[in-house]
Amino acid sequence: MRQLEHLIDLDDYKKADWDAIVSLAQDIVKDPAAYSQRCSGKIMATLFYEPSTRTQMSFQTAMLRLGGGLIGFDNPSVSSVAKGENLKDTTKVVSNYADILVIRNPMEGSAKAAALTAGCPVINAGDGGHLHPTQTLTDMLTLKMEKGRLDDLKIGVCGDLVNGRTVHSLLKALSCYKKNEFTLISTKELRLPDYIKDIITERGCKYREVFSIEDAIEDLDMLYMTRIQRERFASMEEYERQKNVFVLDNAKMSKARSDMIVLHPLPRVDEIASEVDADPRALYFKQANYGVFVRMALIICMLEDRIHSAPLLKGGIPEGKACANPKCITHTEPYLPHSFRQTGAALECEYCDSKL
Ligand code: NCD
Repeated sequence: MRQLEHLIDLDDYKKADWDAIVSLAQDIVKDPAAYSQRCSGKIMATLFYEPSTRTQMSFQTAMLRLGGGLIGFDNPSVSSVAKGENLKDTTKVVSNYADILVIRNPMEGSAKAAALTAGCPVINAGDGGHLHPTQTLTDMLTLKMEKGRLDDLKIGVCGDLVNGRTVHSLLKALSCYKKNEFTLISTKELRLPDYIKDIITERGCKYREVFSIEDAIEDLDMLYMTRIQRERFASMEEYERQKNVFVLDNAKMSKARSDMIVLHPLPRVDEIASEVDADPRALYFKQANYGVFVRMALIICMLEDRIHSAPLLKGGIPEGKACANPKCITHTEPYLPHSFRQTGAALECEYCDSKL
């Protein structure tokens, strides 16, 4: 039997595949009606163990606009999860009811874990503070539509860079395009994890770190704002210290270029003042609309077998070794085989990417 194709991390695909998805999405934007029966008779299951508005509803809208049907939950406390059912059993059963499964779960590596036992393709709709590949496809479509390119861009990312999964996926993907330069704007505590910085450098892109929006905004093509991820902090005191440090307002926007665009995966809390919404460079609501088109394209590609991902676990399963990251799915789903890849001298967990 053919190995199932999943979307856990964009890195599992070739760059040409991302470009094909974005290009199909651009065609769908032009003529959505032409795709209205493309997935008729197919069912999508959305399993959301964490809150969501855009990701869940844009997946659901995408499937309905393709003529398909939906099942799923957005509140695990009303499913058998509340009775203690593990991820493996829920996934195994639901993936037999559906043709494609979309999962969001607070544990890092959870989508990969679900894919190991699923009987249908699995899409990662956010696994804790780790990755969010379909938000990145949305961001890529937005850049393509609004700036006309994915390379040679000066990109600022601002906010919670340590816990922001959208930023992790975005930086990994955009560092595969030539001449992109990144300015990482955060506090010392919320800096981007080292493993993502290493990936940016390995892929031949440059980055610099700054501690204020003013230090970066003048020279950017795109500013990507993010929310401080309250739910990922160990204590509320720590969150209180970090919140509201970065606020984009009209005064700061006045220093930016006239063709700089502002994106945000949303939801926004206080990091973009409402006054900025009226600025024609503020494209975050348009970006959320593009999310439907890119998810339509992704669903078509996955259901029609047009893209081919790498195997889920490629590394070794060393005896007696466990992942040290307490947020890794291997701690809450103990039946999972621990699996590590060798990167230089270090071993990296294949679920959450943290170093042993
Ligand atoms: C993001 C997420 O869930 O990671 N939202 C989204 O999917 N559009 C960003 C966030 O929650 O801050």
